[in-house]
Amino acid sequence: MSTIKNICCIGAGYVGGPTMAVIAQKCPEINVTVVDINKSRIAAWNDEDVENIPIYEPGLSDIVKEARGRNLFFSTDVDGAIDKADMIFISVNTPTKTYGIGKGMAADLKFIELCARQIARVSKNDKIVVEKSTLPVRTAEALRNILDNTGNGVNYQILSNPEFLAEGTAVQDLQNPDRILIGGDIDTERGLDAVQALVDVYAHWVPEANILTTNVWSSELSKLTANAFLAQRISSINAMSELCEKTGADVNEVAKAVGMDSRIGPKFLQSSVGFGGSCFQKDILNLVYISKSFGLNEVADYWEQVIIMNDHQKRRFAAKIVKTLYNTVSGKKIAILGWAFKKDTNDTRESAAIYVTDYLLNEQADIIVYDPKVKKEQIYADLEYLGTHSSEEIRERVKVVHAAQDACKDSHAVAILTEWDEFKELDWQEIYIEMLKPAFLFDGRRLLNRKTKEDFGFEFYAIGS
Ligand code: NAD
Ligand code: UGA
Repeated sequence: MSTIKNICCIGAGYVGGPTMAVIAQKCPEINVTVVDINKSRIAAWNDEDVENIPIYEPGLSDIVKEARGRNLFFSTDVDGAIDKADMIFISVNTPTKTYGIGKGMAADLKFIELCARQIARVSKNDKIVVEKSTLPVRTAEALRNILDNTGNGVNYQILSNPEFLAEGTAVQDLQNPDRILIGGDIDTERGLDAVQALVDVYAHWVPEANILTTNVWSSELSKLTANAFLAQRISSINAMSELCEKTGADVNEVAKAVGMDSRIGPKFLQSSVGFGGSCFQKDILNLVYISKSFGLNEVADYWEQVIIMNDHQKRRFAAKIVKTLYNTVSGKKIAILGWAFKKDTNDTRESAAIYVTDYLLNEQADIIVYDPKVKKEQIYADLEYLGTHSSEEIRERVKVVHAAQDACKDSHAVAILTEWDEFKELDWQEIYIEMLKPAFLFDGRRLLNRKTKEDFGFEFYAIGS
């Protein structure tokens, strides 16, 4: 029976950092070392001022403060941590491939493979290797091939333990997960033993009834399926939002009526300017790619539609701004409130704000951005990454300010792209007074009350009504 004393996690990102912090908090007798090749990220995790850790998540800095230096460590010594560990989590990024076969669809597994090769090179005793990253179904097979063929004759057990946390609520999700999913080689004694070792880690705080064990392939595929189902709900309600706008129905009322059916449920029916985040698009594209590679074209087409709808939603929101502003935004000042892909995170990956802004830049608008947690350089980097506009043009045409009110002053239009709570509390009367008239307000998150804003004098547009 394996008892875990030392855990290593490769990858100190949005998943590795928070997940390991909670494991360390809940299992004080286990040493947890999070390693990364990104030196500045590790330095930030080790920053004396715990408020400077690289990931903003409500409640996370308190946990890091409690466990760091006790049984939670952040390091760039990847070899050292692998060597010492009984259990190694791989929590590195698995982005969409940007080159070669599967470009724009398949998951790029080069970082995963590098980890496997490093584990194989360094390990001198038996290890349990845990896939924490989201991976295509049957990736464990590739890992096993690398570990068994280039290793030092040690025994590896490979588990799949996908992560279901959502950013912005990561701590809450980790401390009270709906379920923990562990896939392993449950037909062998060693496999069962490895599964039990990981169950024992989570059982420190998760009721055993909520810890599911399956075979590896079911676990890998369940993660892609969960993200596909979640994203599909958003695209479904967003599709209805456009129909609502044409028919006089209100998408919030429709969502409420539909969500009260206990078979459907109320969550993930919030219409928006489109889902963002590092995973929904990447994981669905991956699912589409896998389906196509098995010749399942109808399955692939079905899921691809979720992405097509999402792209449409972002585009149509931006187009609505242009059309409403008398078909031209050239030289007009447009305030963008919110850059993160959702509230309570500083993550901007695939954020709708990036695409809406890019569209408006194509139309020669001047943009002023305010986001409470995203830094100026990140905003520029996000736009530069698209490659549509030069760095000089972006810096000239996009300004970033430190207060919402400053962004809105003298603007022709304001667009809300992230649902930060503070936007609800702004002095909208004052904002109206300071804007050019007519003052247009575009609510891409259904955050604001239409009636009060119209009473102030705004020309108000909200997604889905
Ligand atoms: P991230 O980019 O924030 O972090 C990944 C880290 O891995 C980076 O810091 C990178 O430097 C490091 N890394 C890459 N290769 C390395 C190597 N060979 N050695 C050491 N470090 C290495 O990514 P993330 O958001 O934490 O996502 C990680 C995985 O978890 C992805 O597969 C993602 O799909 C999945 N996931 C993410 C979320 C989320 O909310 N972000 C939720 C569930 C699952
Ligand atoms: C999502 C899943 O919710 C997690 O379970 C999963 O672990 C994670 O992806 C992952 O694999 O990375 P995350 O992307 O962090 O988590 O955040 P979500 O709350 O799912 O939001 C994703 C996007 O959808 C955001 O842009 C959000 O604003 C949008 N959204 C969400 C809507 O537009 N409407 C909704 O009703 C819900």
